[in-house]
Order: sequence, then structure tokens, then C-alpha cells
Amino acid sequence: MKTAPLKILITSQKGGVGKSTLSANLAAYFCHTRGKKTALIDFDHQATSGKWVKKAYPIGIHCNTADLPNYKGPGIVLLKAKEALRKGVENHQVVVADLTWTDVLSPEFLFEFDLVLVPTSLSIIELDSTLEFINRFSFIFKSRMRQPPKLVLVPSRVDDFETYESIFTRSFNTSFFLAPPVMYSESANNFFGSEFFVLTTNQEVRENFMTFARAIDELGESEMEDRQGPRRSEFNPKLSGTVLDQFRAMRNSEEPETLVEKNPESAVKQGVSKRLMSAIPTFLINKRD
Ligand SMILES: Nc1ncnc2c1ncn2[C@@H]1O[C@H](COP(=O)(O)OP(=O)(O)O)[C@@H](O)[C@H]1O
Ligand SMILES: [Mg+2]
Repeated sequence: MKTAPLKILITSQKGGVGKSTLSANLAAYFCHTRGKKTALIDFDHQATSGKWVKKAYPIGIHCNTADLPNYKGPGIVLLKAKEALRKGVENHQVVVADLTWTDVLSPEFLFEFDLVLVPTSLSIIELDSTLEFINRFSFIFKSRMRQPPKLVLVPSRVDDFETYESIFTRSFNTSFFLAPPVMYSESANNFFGSEFFVLTTNQEVRENFMTFARAIDELGESEMEDRQGPRRSEFNPKLSGTVLDQFRAMRNSEEPETLVEKNPESAVKQGVSKRLMSAIPTFLINKRD
């Protein structure tokens, strides 16, 4: 039986958060490390991830660029986006799509994917805009009418673990998965168009990215099982206790800010810290001393 392809969207409204870097390198992980037939769809004008894949040593990623017209009506734009995705998916096992979100595109497009990855740095300003973005589309991720994609927050370009918990001082109105952090790397710019993170001899960069990519892979497999199975489980116990954990939505009324401040040593917070630390490779933790 032919299994359905895994469709991953990497998106955010802001530029410069690492979408293209993650897209090109995640495609390389699925293609090279996992040996899957992988396609990359670059929806951006600048086509950064597409250029990366085309310029680097060819490893077999099939690359499509799709420019969405921003002067047409939302109906046409959605149609174009779906068409580009359908073409990209043909004969592939994994599709990674890189898209700077545009409001001419209907949120309905998100339903086309199994996983929606939203990269964000942990700075307060960027976290606020990520939060606004996620909360605006929460109705998609909570949908009971259609199978929703899984939402994954990806801390990217992280250089300070201390800021990590700032995510949990915010109030989200939908559940999400938190990916292991993709660390800030001095040499990230030099990799563009020449090397992939999963192939580099730079051990720090390679191992950090592999930890992230494996977590996404695991979540993708569990989502595909869910979709094929007769019944959907709300929470897959196989994933609990792994580096990728699901964090339940905190209700606005619970005022998580005060929760954390009042009980800095609360079990919840400790549990979260422990899980986050387990997501970080030991060689990176040791460097903090
Ligand atoms: N992990 C990282 N470490 C350091 N710099 C990074 C990292 N990821 C991305 N960058 C840099 O940040 C900038 C924006 O990245 P890019 O992937 O193009 O973001 P976007 O597609 O969201 O605009 C680029 O200069 C890129 O080299
Ligand atoms: Mg980009």
C-alpha cells in the first residue's frame, strides 16, 4: 500500500526567523539521513531555501518554487498554493514547504499539512509576534470539523538557555508541541548554498540539528499513524517523556504569568525545565560552565 506523504509547513509572518534555513536543512535530513523521496516547495519571493538546495552539492532533494500572487483575490491565491503543493507532493514521501505567511492566503491552507512548524527566537518582541500569530489561527489547530495539523513551536537561533522558559510565561490559546532548540551558530551564514547541517563536519551544528530533525520525524510518524488509524488519539503516549513534548494550552483565565511568578519552583515549571534540558545535547550544556 502506498502511504500518504508527510507534509510539513514551516511558516511565520516575520522574516529572518530561520524558516528558510530550517526548511533546506530539514529537507536534507529527510532526503539524505532518512533516504526518503523529498521535495522542497519554496513559496517565498526570495526563494532562499530553494537557492540553498540548488546551489549545494546535490543530494536528491526535488525543488519547486511557487510565487503566490499578492494582487489576486484570496480564492485564487489559495488555489495557486494548493496547486503548488499538489505538484510538489507527487511521487514524494516527504514535502517541506517554506512560506512567509501572507494574509491574502486563507488560513484554510494550513489544513493541507500534517505539521505546521513556527520558528521563533526567544526575544520578547519576537515571541509576542509569534504568540499573536498562533492565537489568531488557533481555531484551525483546535478544529473538530476537519483533521487539524499539529502545531510545533521551534525555538531557533537560541543562544541563551536562560530565556528558554520565557515561552511558558505566555498564554497560548491552543496546545502545541515544542521542538528541541536549534541553536545560534556563528557559521550559519557560511553554510548557505554550500553545506547542509546534517552533513557538515562541524559536530556541534550537526548534532544539534539532528536532535531537532529526529524529533520532527518522530512527531510526523505519530501523526501519520494517527491519520491512518481508525481512531484518533488526543495524545500519543509514545511521545510522552521524549524530547518533544506536548504542552497543553494554558487558559487565559489562569494568568500563567502570575502562576509562574507566585510559584517559581512549581512542579509544572520544574517538569518543563527537565524536559527542555533533556532536549539539549550534553556538549552544549557543558559549554555553559
Ligand atoms: N541557527 C542559526 N544560527 C545563526 N544564524 C542563523 C540560524 N538560522 C538562521 N540564521 C540566519 O538568520 C538569517 C535569516 O534566516 P532565514 O533562514 O533566511 O530566515 P527566514 O526564512 O525566516 O527569513 C540568515 O542570515 C541566516 O543565516
Ligand atoms: Mg526565507
